Order: sequence, then structure tokens, then C-alpha cells
Amino acid sequence: MPIYQQLGTIPPKRHTQFRKTDGGLYYEELFGTIGFEGMSSLLYHTWRPTQVKSLGEPYDVAPRIAVANNMTMRKLIGFDVKPAADYLDSRTPLLVNRDLILGLAAPTGAPMSYFYKNADADELLFIHRGSGKLRTPFGQVPFTYGDYVLIPRGTIYQIEFDGPDNRLLYLESHTPIYTPKRYRNHFGQLTEHSPYCERDYILPRDLETHDEHGEFIIKIKKQSHIHPVTYETHPFDVIGWDGYNYPWAFSIHNFEPITGRIHQPPPVHQTFQTDAFVVCSFCPRLYDYHPLAIPAPYNHSNIDSDEVLYYVDGDFMSRNDIAQGHITLHPGGIPHGPHPGAYERSIGKKETQELAVMVDTFRPLMLTEQAIAIDDGRYFTSWAEG
Ligand SMILES: [Fe+2]
Repeated sequence: MPIYQQLGTIPPKRHTQFRKTDGGLYYEELFGTIGFEGMSSLLYHTWRPTQVKSLGEPYDVAPRIAVANNMTMRKLIGFDVKPAADYLDSRTPLLVNRDLILGLAAPTGAPMSYFYKNADADELLFIHRGSGKLRTPFGQVPFTYGDYVLIPRGTIYQIEFDGPDNRLLYLESHTPIYTPKRYRNHFGQLTEHSPYCERDYILPRDLETHDEHGEFIIKIKKQSHIHPVTYETHPFDVIGWDGYNYPWAFSIHNFEPITGRIHQPPPVHQTFQTDAFVVCSFCPRLYDYHPLAIPAPYNHSNIDSDEVLYYVDGDFMSRNDIAQGHITLHPGGIPHGPHPGAYERSIGKKETQELAVMVDTFRPLMLTEQAIAIDDGRYFTSWAEG
């Protein structure tokens, strides 16, 4: 959960007259996600944010499912996803269920001639390569390698990259993405045993206030369609805002690993939670220090979830033949564990430089046509010793 923030100029009392220098009113908007009960922010627009001029023809962007019932362990070669100039075109859905879309993108950074809003889902971008900034009505969120960028549903944004070589892992979540509840106290503050804290947040800054009329296209994603809607005024016309609901970022490099004398289970790596999946960060850390410790994980029957690992950097201790950008999928129902030799190889090792993002989903994942196109096709045999 984010923290209370305030940027720009706001009136001393909410829901009261807030006037421009010419005497006209600023236009207040409540931006919340769970009715009027969840986290929200109050934004003050220069113009009414409701001035639709025209509606374009919606087009279908639903993922095309190739395998709906998957019981196969998979390895996807993520860097085989082709770069594309346009940000939305570059987003390639790979693993999906009714709760989320997990995909990869390699946008080469063409300037966005439109604005984008996901009305269905919170978005979580993980920046594997590249840097830039997210531009929103709340201000700008700069990002670089290793950042998670969390964009609450309904946030209008443009994304700008500093160069052409960008690689992103992205999630679209139909339930809100929060920090893990067990790391929050009664007041919502991250506690002393949390692996990161509010000081690590990258918060919106450099508020943009564009007092402009014209034609501004917002591509709104809703029910697996993109609806192009043209507005009369610039979406970034906010003079000030405050509240709890806004985009922010957090660097995986600021995740402080929790270690122990013996092997610690995956929940110690948890970084975000939803009702439908968790996100964990596997970061460089010292290994277990019991004299007889086995640092590699034990085999485990992930019977209740599908497990997705995205490999970012370093040697991944429990896997053979894994490279940057690979995605492994271990479907629920089949136990899995270290590859042959990895269990033994880990004994006596003092530390690991592995860096990976894990997504465990509580419902099975389906594979898209694009996922099958980059599937190595033989990963499921990689545990066999014969
Ligand atoms: Fe696992």
C-alpha cells in the first residue's frame, strides 16, 4: 500500500471551491479503485475531465489461447519476443488466466501519439532493460533497470524511453496489487521486518499541468478491447492532487533478502500480493549458514499454484541451462525441484548473485500462441537423469 502523498496546489478543504486566478473553478475528481471504500486520490483538473469529443472503433486485443489446459513444464525464450516501435503493439501476452495477463515487451521507444489507460487491471511493469519515465496526471515516475512500476487501474499514462533497447516484463492484474499484508502494521505502515520500506518508494514528481484544448486520444483498455476515445482537453491538466492512489515504483535492488541458517521458503521473497497471485523477488544474498545446510531448494509440490520465474541476471542456482529473459512455468499438480546436480552443487556455497522475479498464480495459466512460438519444447525432460 502506498503512503499519503501531495503534489502541486490543492485547496485547504476537500470538496470546496478552488478557484483559478481568473475566478473560474478547478474541477475535482475522486480517483479510487474499490468503489468509494478503497484507496483514492483527489485530483484538481484545469478543465472538466469528462469532455469526450468522439469515439473511435474499438478493436479486440484478447490474448489468443493456444493451450488452455497445460500440464507441461515450459521454458520460454523471452528475448525472442520481437521488438516493436509502438508501446502497446510491443506488449506480447504469454501466460494468462481470468485474473491476470503476464507478458513481455521490447518497445523501441517510438513517441506515443496517444495516451493509454487500462480500465480493467492494475499494471505492474518490471524493467529488465532500458530507462525512461512514466508520465501521468500525478506527475512523472522515472524508472531504470530493476524497477517495478506499479500503475493502478484507470491511470492515464504515456511512457517514454531514453533509448531503443528496452525489455519489460508486465502484468495486468484484475485485482489490486498491494504490498504484502503481513508486512504492514495496523496503520498500513511497512513494519521493521518488511524487506523494504516506504523510503524505497519512487514517488511521482514533476507534476505536468497542460492547459491545452485540442484532440487528445486516450486508448482505453476494457474487456479485452481497446477503445479509442478523443477528449477535448489534455489529460495532464492537474494543478494538484493528494491521496493514496497513484503510480509508484520500487527497485528490486532495494529488496533486502531475508536469510537463515537453513533454507528459507519462497514467501520470504514476496514483494507484492493480490487476491489471485503473488510476486516475489529473488535477489543476490548470502546462503544458509547451518554447517549442514543445503542452499538449493527442496523439491516441492506446488499443488495450489502455477509458478512462473522470469530470470533477470546472475546464475540461477537450482536450474541448468537458464539465461537472461527466460521464463519457466511449473504448473500446479507436478512437483518440481532443483535440476540434476544442482542440489549437490549448492552445498558449501556462500552466496548467490541470482536475480529473478517469480509470479505464483492461484489459478492455472493458459499459454498464448505467442508463448508457444518461443517455447523451447523440451524443458519438461530436463529433470530426467537417464
Ligand atoms: Fe518452485
